[in-house]
Amino acid sequence: MPRTAILGVGHYVPTRVVTNDDLSKMFNTSDEWIVQRSGIRERRYIEHDGIGASDLAVPAARMAAERAGIAISEIDAIIFATLSPDVFFPGSGCFLQTKLGLKNIPALDIRNQCSGFLYGLQIADAWIRAGMYKRVLLVGSEVHSTGIDFSDAGRDVTVLFGDGAGAVILGPTDDPERGVQSVTLGADGSGAADLWIEAPSSRSSPSRITPEMIDARLHYPRMNGKQVFRWATEKMPEAAHLALRMADKSMADVDVFVPHQANLRINEFVARKLGIPMEKVVTTIDRYGNTTAASIPISLSEAVADGRAKPGSLVLFAAFGSGYTWGAGVVRM
Ligand code: UT7
Repeated sequence: MPRTAILGVGHYVPTRVVTNDDLSKMFNTSDEWIVQRSGIRERRYIEHDGIGASDLAVPAARMAAERAGIAISEIDAIIFATLSPDVFFPGSGCFLQTKLGLKNIPALDIRNQCSGFLYGLQIADAWIRAGMYKRVLLVGSEVHSTGIDFSDAGRDVTVLFGDGAGAVILGPTDDPERGVQSVTLGADGSGAADLWIEAPSSRSSPSRITPEMIDARLHYPRMNGKQVFRWATEKMPEAAHLALRMADKSMADVDVFVPHQANLRINEFVARKLGIPMEKVVTTIDRYGNTTAASIPISLSEAVADGRAKPGSLVLFAAFGSGYTWGAGVVRM
């Protein structure tokens, strides 16, 4: 059975830079609070109305295909991870397929928030090893800026989130050293309301969204930050250890650690717990904030571009987020 290799990786972030000082003009916050609590200095927002998650995914997918040395027409399946789809339905993967000029190939949307990339990686790995597809495009893409609460009530989440997209092209390799060595996933739905958007809701009858729900600001994300922080710092190291054990590798074998970018303090805590020096940890949150499903492929793309993740590098991934969902994986580039 072949292994699944990451053949190419790409990313795209909008050009509009929003600093912490910009946010402090909109609601009660400060650069000092945001940097100290999260490590974020700025994030990107879409430039204008009409840009959805699938639009950000197009340049990210093109860059990944170019770096993989394949034509877009060779892609034979799409997995699209997002919590901010262009519309309620159909999935953003369908929009992306058309925007890339592709036809007929399957387009699967997955809703696994910050762990979406790793959920997608496990699906793509299984498809490829089973011989079902040869060139899978896996995208994480988010437009958060149109769905966050720019009032004091939502400031804890709003300062964290940013827009962006990352993508990988995955395909089979006969090289026994290269490729996906392990992916482990988990979820615990008992924490669902610790980080969620409650409306629109199919369980709200007779209407999924009402003026009362909007007045109560239920269409914005709400988070129990301390609880999420606690879970993240427990589950990410646990999953990382498991992924390494499954891959028969040790922490010392890891060349690059690419964690989900939710909070620099979380990643410093996780790295310390794992015994990984910060020089091996990829950090992009200072410039892009938390781009949920996009954060891992964006960070990997930057690490490939600046030479930190090169052919032969052993990369460890770990993520935790809304759901709760979590995961970790080990990949030889
Ligand atoms: O990717 C998805 C997963 N998400 C995460 O992993 C996020 C996990 N959680 C966190 O990163 C942190 O909990 C936060 C960065 C969100 C918050 O840090 P914290 O140290 O847990 O702060 P807190 O929520 O306990 O709030 C401390 C204070 C509160 O004021 P009082 O009650 O002490 O007067 C908040 O109202 O800070 C206040 N606060 C803010 N102040 C200025 C909350 N948000 C802000 C803000 N600016 N943006």
